[in-house]
Amino acid sequence: MMADQDRQLGIYLHWPYCDVICPYCDFNVYRARNTDHRPLLDAILADLRFWRDQTGPRPLASLFFGGGTPSLLPPAAVSAVIEACATLWGFRPGAEISLEANPTDAETSRFADLAAAGVNRLSLGIQSFDDEHLKFLGRNHDGAAGYKAAGVALSHFEQVSLDFIYALPGQTVKQWLVELMCMIEDFAPDHVSPYQLTIEQGTAFARAVGRGAWTPVDQELAAEFFEVTGQMLSLKGYDAYEVSNHARARSTRSVHNQLYWRSQDWIGVGPGAHGRLGAGAGREATLCARKPGDYIAAVTTTGTGGVERSHLGLEAAREEYWMMGLRLLDGVPMIDAPGELLDARQLSGLIDMGYLQIADGRLALTAAGVPVADAVIRQLLV
Ligand SMILES: C[S@@+](CC[C@H](N)C(=O)[O-])C[C@H]1O[C@@H](n2cnc3c(N)ncnc32)[C@H](O)[C@@H]1O
Ligand code: SF4
Repeated sequence: MMADQDRQLGIYLHWPYCDVICPYCDFNVYRARNTDHRPLLDAILADLRFWRDQTGPRPLASLFFGGGTPSLLPPAAVSAVIEACATLWGFRPGAEISLEANPTDAETSRFADLAAAGVNRLSLGIQSFDDEHLKFLGRNHDGAAGYKAAGVALSHFEQVSLDFIYALPGQTVKQWLVELMCMIEDFAPDHVSPYQLTIEQGTAFARAVGRGAWTPVDQELAAEFFEVTGQMLSLKGYDAYEVSNHARARSTRSVHNQLYWRSQDWIGVGPGAHGRLGAGAGREATLCARKPGDYIAAVTTTGTGGVERSHLGLEAAREEYWMMGLRLLDGVPMIDAPGELLDARQLSGLIDMGYLQIADGRLALTAAGVPVADAVIRQLLV
C-alpha cells in the first residue's frame, strides 16, 4: 500500500453561488442575490487551516475552485485562498490551479486578474454557441459572450478547458458536429469536456420531462452523439483520456480530476464538498455541511465544515477504485486495487464480450466498453 507521501494531495473548494440556477443542474448551488462573500470565504480559510493540522506538510498537486460559479468571487478572494494554500502546504512544481467560470461579460472582465492571482487553468462553461440552445438551457449568456470569453481566456491562462452540453432535444448530430468543428478551428483549446445532457432528478428539467413538455433524445441517438463526438475530437488531435474528457496533449489532462479517478487524496472545503484521504482500509471519506449557513456555523463551532467523517472500509474503497479508475481510458493497475480480487468469472465474461481488456497489468475499458461504461462497471462489481 502507498504511503501518504507517495499519494498526491489536492484541494477541492466548492463555491456554491450562481447568478441563475440552470434548469438541468443538480449541484449544490444557491442564487447569489448580492450575497456578501466574506463570511463564507473566512470559514473556508479557517477550514483549510484545520486540514493542514490533519495532513501535516504535504505539497499540493492541485487546487480546484469548483461550483457553483467561483468566477463570481472577486480575484482578491481567489488570491487570498491561493496564498493561504501556498503558506500552509506549498505547491509541487507545475501544480494545477483551476477555476470554473461562466462566460458572462462581467466574469470575462476578471480573467486577467484571476490569472495574475495564480489561476493557471480555466474551465469555461460555454455549453453551446447557439443562442436557441443557450436559451433552452436557461443560461444567462449568449453565443457571442461565450465566443468572447473563450478568446479572452486563451489570451490569459496557461491552459483552457471548454465545457459543452450536447444531445439536446431537437439538436441534430450534424448541427453539433459543425459547432464542435468550428470551435476547434477557432480556439483549439487545450482540453474539451463535452457532456451529454443528463436529466437529473429534482431539477426543473426533470419536472418538465415528467409533465411531457419535451422528450429527451432516445438512447440510440444519444449513443450516436457520443460516438461522433469522440471521432471528431480524435480526428482533431484530442485524446479521450476519460469518458467525457479530451486533451490535446498528455500535459493538458486535468491533474485535479485525475486525483479522483486514481483514488488519490483530496481535501474538500466549502458547502457540500466531499474529500478522501488515505488508502485501503484506512481510507477516510469527509463531507461538508451542504447549506452555506450550516457550513459557516460548523466551522465556527468545531473548526471545520466537515460534518461527516467516516472510514470508507475496504469494500467501499475497492468499489470506488474501480468505479472511478475505469473511467480513465488507460485504466488503472490491478495490483493497487484495495481489498479482494475482482470476481474472475465476471471479469473474463466482460473481457470475452469485448468490453474490458488487460494490458501491462492495467484493467481498462475497450472502445466498445466506453459508451456503456456505467453498465460494464456495475456488472464487474456484482
Ligand atoms: C457544475 S458546472 C460548474 C461550472 C459553471 N458554473 C458553468 O455552469 O459553466 C460544471 C459543468 O457540468 C456540466 N453539467 C452540469 N449539469 C449537467 C447536466 N445535467 N447534464 C450535462 N452536463 C451538465 C456543465 O457542462 C457544466 O459546465
Ligand atoms: S450549471 Fe453552473 S451556473 Fe448553472 S446552476 Fe449549475 S453550477 Fe450554476
